[in-house]
Parts: sequence; structure tokens; C-alpha cells
Amino acid sequence: SSKAIILVGGGTRGTRFRPLSLDIPKVLFPVAGRPIISHALSALATVPSIKEVLLIGFYDDSVFKDFLAESAKEFPQFTIKYLREYRALGTAGGLYHFRDVILTGHPYRLFVIHADVCSSFPLQEMLSMFEDKEAKAVILGTRVEPQFASNFGCIVMDPTTKKVIHYVEKPESHISNLINGGVYLFDRSIFDVIAAARNARAEQTREDPSEVEDGQEVLRLEQDILVRLAQADGFYVYETRGFWRQIKTAGSAVPANALYLQKLFQTDIDAPHLARASATIVPPVYIDPTASVDPTAKLGPNVSVGPRVRIGPGARVKEAILLEDTEVKHEACVLYSILARGVKVGAWARVEGSHITPADHSTVTFKNGVRVQSVSILAQDVVVGDEVRLQNCVVLPHKEIKSDVENEVIM
Ligand code: GDD
Ligand code: GTP
Repeated sequence: SSKAIILVGGGTRGTRFRPLSLDIPKVLFPVAGRPIISHALSALATVPSIKEVLLIGFYDDSVFKDFLAESAKEFPQFTIKYLREYRALGTAGGLYHFRDVILTGHPYRLFVIHADVCSSFPLQEMLSMFEDKEAKAVILGTRVEPQFASNFGCIVMDPTTKKVIHYVEKPESHISNLINGGVYLFDRSIFDVIAAARNARAEQTREDPSEVEDGQEVLRLEQDILVRLAQADGFYVYETRGFWRQIKTAGSAVPANALYLQKLFQTDIDAPHLARASATIVPPVYIDPTASVDPTAKLGPNVSVGPRVRIGPGARVKEAILLEDTEVKHEACVLYSILARGVKVGAWARVEGSHITPADHSTVTFKNGVRVQSVSILAQDVVVGDEVRLQNCVVLPHKEIKSDVENEVIM
């Protein structure tokens, strides 16, 4: 059998996801109508050998309680558990700390997935490569435009064998535009590599005790483990041609929402709640069955409408996520924006962000030389008055916007 580990991080991380993560942990934020990590679980469900999925992070146990109960029903093919780190142990520290739990039942393959990536998750293809190459490790690689590469781990591979020959985490100079996609497949020997990295670390701190500040247990998969793997044999990269995006900032939920909606629309046109409402729909659009949308409204493409949302006559919504209990009044317009729970947009109001191209891995944009948010984000219970125009703004919870605003963070 095999297992999967999803690294979910914790409350002190995901700060770039504010103001949305004040309300809901980032990994449970809904895109295309489902929590971000559910999309990874769906991909894992297509691999029959996976019998257990372990979420590792340092959120409070209560955070995942409801999610685990719902996922148990949705994914009867595997068990799902949450393992809590007593503090942030790093991307490999948790793997090492929970090694006994992970190795229970003798899994011979381990998928490790970063919770904050949006991907087509080509897990079968990674497995095939693993078998073909008799690999010890396979990493998902994806190409980005060179100016974004240094925000990620960069991979240099042998183009004929696909062997990883060099790995550098967030390099300062340009090394490669083939980047670490945050999905790995390992065999059990990964624990030997982690143990070796730990021993090397212990050796180092004996020589130079001033290095301990980080603590012994913090181990980084990237700097401590992948770099070692690249020096040995058996480490390969599977370069995906599918979609890939990181979900770091709140604004990046908008392109992730678009990618998952498009996937859903292509693979399952009859998917539940993929909209065939009486309103004008430009697909793909997801509408929760408890939402009410006026027949004269126009929605899409790439819109997700959450539970109990109300959209009034003549309203226009495009490239947006509307969380539960939001209201968009008549003739209002919402474009490239996220409306958190309970937001109200007045009649004839306009809430706008800017268009983001699919190849753009950043969610800031430049307007007249000024750095602004490409996506407008209205946190919980914000009220936008009638006829108000709001462009490229982030608005913190409970604010009332009574006059036009542009390129601001409203606190
Ligand atoms: N359990 C646990 N404990 N999870 C953690 C911890 C930790 O201490 N630290 C980070 N994570 C989780 C995060 O929640 C996220 O899902 C993932 O591990 C990676 O997060 P970061 O450490 O913030 O790294 P990054 O996103 O800047 O870069 C990593 O991911 C990129 C792909 O998305 C690197 O692996 C890059 O090389 C890679 O390109
Ligand atoms: P068509 O392309 O002819 O279907 O019109 P459209 O308005 O749907 O165009 P598009 O798909 O580009 O939709 C985005 C545009 O809708 C925005 O740029 C707005 O200018 C326009 N829009 C703005 N305000 C409103 C409004 O109050 N109601 C409606 N229905 N549309 C608006």
C-alpha cells in the first residue's frame, strides 16, 4: 500500500493570506466550491494503492474536526488523520517526528504534497515514472516564466534521463525555470536521508553551538533533503504540462478558482451545481444550491457562489469568489474580486480588481507605476454603499465603504 502526507502548515503561517485567513485557515478556503485541500484529496482518490492520508501541521486540532468528518464520508477509500506538530518543525521535521505513524502498515510509497498548491496533480504519471526509473524519489516540476523562478525551488535536470542533477531553493541568480511544484513521491528510504541530514546537523551544532537557534528538530525538505537527494542517484523530475499555481496570497485564490472550475467543467460537465441556473451563465460557474441568483443577472466565467448568497437583478459577476451569505444588489458589478462571508455590495456599485494573465505568478500589479493588488478583497461583513466604485483594494472586516476608493488597504 502507499500513503500520502499533506503539509498544511499552521496559524502563524499563511499571513499573506490575510485578511481572509483571519476568518478561515487558508487550506480550508473554498475554491471551486470546495476547500483548497479537497482538490488534493480528490487527486489522491484516483490512486487505488493509497490507504491513508495524513495531514501534518501545527494548527489546533479543532480546526480540522469538521473537515475530517466530511472528508471521511466523501473519501471512503482511505482514512484521513490530522497530526499536530507541537511547533513548526519545517517541511521535513514533521515527517521525521511522525515517522512511526507514517511507516505503520509498511507503506512502500509516500506522496508528500504542499497544501498550498493548485495543480492538475499528475500522480499516476509520477508513479509510472517512479516504476520506470526504479527511482527513490520523483518531484513534480513545472515551468514558469524566468522572472518568477527565484520565488521557488529551482531544478536542473538531465534532459534525456530526467534525473535531477542540481537543486537550489529560491536562488538569487537564475538557474533554471523548471521549478519545484510542491508534490513528491518517495520510497521509505527517504527516512534514511532525513536521518543523515539530522546527524549532519547535530555534528555541525557540536562544532558551532551558536547555530542552534532554530532548534534541532527543524528540518527543511528543500535545503536539507532535496539537495542531498540531487547529489545521490535515483532522484527524478516529472515535468507537468498540466496547470500549476501556488496559493500564497489571498488574491491567488482567484486564479486557483478559475483553474479548478475549468478542470471540473472539462472533465465533468454534469458535476453537481456546475451552473445551469436561469441567469445568463458564461461557464464555468459554480453555484451552491442554497444561493439565489436573479434570472436577469449575468455570471461567469470563473465564478464560485457560496451558500445562501443572493445576487440581484441585472448584476454582473465575473472572475470572482463569493463566500457564504454575501449579497450583490441589483445592477452591481463584481469583477476579479473575493467577497468574504457576509459582504454586501450595494445597488449600482462596482467592486473591481484587474485581469491576471495565466502565466503571471504574482498577485500584485502596477497601475501608473504604483504597486497595487490585482484582486480586490473584501473581508468578512464589509458593506459597500450604493453606486460606490471600489478598485484594487483590500478591505478589512466590518468596514463600511461610502465613497469611491482605489488602490488602498482600508483598515
Ligand atoms: N507541517 C508543516 N510544518 N508544514 C509546513 C511547515 C512546518 O513547519 N512549514 C511549511 N509547511 C507547509 C506549508 O503550509 C506549505 O503547504 C508547504 O509546507 C511549503 O511551504 P513553505 O515552507 O512556505 O515554502 P514555499 O511555499 O515558499 O516554497 C515551497 O513550495 C514551493 C512550491 O509551492 C518550496 O518547496 C519551493 O521549492 C516550491 O517551489
Ligand atoms: P457582453 O460581452 O456583451 O456579454 O457584455 P458584458 O457586460 O457581459 O461584458 P463582459 O463579459 O466583458 O463583462 C464585464 C463588463 O460588464 C464589465 O467590464 C462592465 O463594464 C460590465 N458591467 C458593468 N456594470 C454592469 C452592470 O451594472 N450590470 C451589468 N450587467 N454589466 C455591467
